[in-house]
Amino acid sequence: MRYLMTPDKTPSAWFNVAPHLPEPLSPPLHPGTGEPVGPDDLAPLFPMALIGQEMSAEPWIDIPGEVLDILRLWRPTPLVRARRLEQALDTPARIYFKDESVSPAGSHKPNTAVAQAYYNKAEGIGRISSETGAGQWGSALSFACQLFGLECFVYMVAASYHQKPYRRVMMETWGGQVVPSPSDLTQAGKAVLARDPDTGGSLGIAISEAVEDAATHPDTHYSLGSVLNHVLLHQTVIGLEAKQQLEQAGEGLPDVVLGSCGGGSNLAGLALPFVPDCGGANNGSGPRLVAVEPSSCPTLTEGRFEYDFGDEAGMTPKILMYTLGHEFIPPPIHAGGLRYHGDAPIICNLVKNGWMEAIAYPQGKVFEAAVQFARAQGPIPAPETAHAIRAAIDEALAAKEAGEERVILFNYSGHGLLDLAAYDAYLHGQLVDV
Ligand SMILES: Cc1ncc(COP(=O)(O)O)c(C=O)c1O
Repeated sequence: MRYLMTPDKTPSAWFNVAPHLPEPLSPPLHPGTGEPVGPDDLAPLFPMALIGQEMSAEPWIDIPGEVLDILRLWRPTPLVRARRLEQALDTPARIYFKDESVSPAGSHKPNTAVAQAYYNKAEGIGRISSETGAGQWGSALSFACQLFGLECFVYMVAASYHQKPYRRVMMETWGGQVVPSPSDLTQAGKAVLARDPDTGGSLGIAISEAVEDAATHPDTHYSLGSVLNHVLLHQTVIGLEAKQQLEQAGEGLPDVVLGSCGGGSNLAGLALPFVPDCGGANNGSGPRLVAVEPSSCPTLTEGRFEYDFGDEAGMTPKILMYTLGHEFIPPPIHAGGLRYHGDAPIICNLVKNGWMEAIAYPQGKVFEAAVQFARAQGPIPAPETAHAIRAAIDEALAAKEAGEERVILFNYSGHGLLDLAAYDAYLHGQLVDV
């Protein structure tokens, strides 16, 4: 069962969670001085409009018409009731997912890529540098840059560059340039290669390279696909649509809202519009909000809550978040987009204050859920998305155990049609839990 809306129902403003958070966000600190950073410190990397959104306390921020016109190429995305999965699990729970895989790049990432490209173009920037893990973000940004006539240069985590060659081809098709990271194009990349020439890289290293690239090219800005407040803001169209569609389906609020968590953007996109309903710590009477991460990169479940750099080389401002340490290099699991040592400060704020839960799964159990979902419903999910599916299945089984009619909502953040090597490994007994 699919709940669709016409393009004119796409939200026309983003939802800013800042005024609703349990405590104010702590400011990012300058990597050199340790003082709180101001707009001028960030201006070499980001356009002023995005810096304004990063720090905004306005409850709603209008989406520019030009951005909305592009989002409407695929938005609103469908809300789907996974009836066949419910039947396969024999659960009284009702399972819904928001299908973000229908975007041109196949994931939620274009929701912010388009907005970021727009604001950079409006400020007269000609080139954007960025990093990508599994390639979802790099392909979304290449697509968005192409639409606004910007050059796009992507540092792709080496492990994924080799595991997922077709994502590189997507980026190149949309006019992006891609190199494996660490590369010898930056000081940060060279330093890592000198220490460990065979490294698979990490998102932290690729961010260092992309930031250095932007800092050393005058016409270039840097763009990040997750973690930052403005990125999470742009993703809230997902949850805003989902709320309307759940109403259409005859539901009230869901009992639980789930998303995989790499840097936190798809989870935030779905979950943040539910924060005012969630009833505070330990969920009061509202929906439970749940982050799902890999047990090989357990940032929220095992990390320390402290100020840390966003990148490996220590070039970015320090942000207050759960972190495994900026030098942590996660094992090369197939969910490349979840291999990040930190998490969005907004997500960490919610988890720290008990407004959001976090759980972690090893990749074997994640792929088991992905295959179960594909066999019941049809679509083959991205390995990142499959983390949310694992949790949704476990919630549905817990509802069955308790004899409860739980309403479960999760974010189907992307398809896995370019992740088939990972499925091949799982189906033929070659997937190891790391
Ligand atoms: C399909 C998909 N889901 C989830 C993620 C995790 O990122 P985030 O936590 O920012 O949503 C990624 C990152 O690349 C992704 O490609």
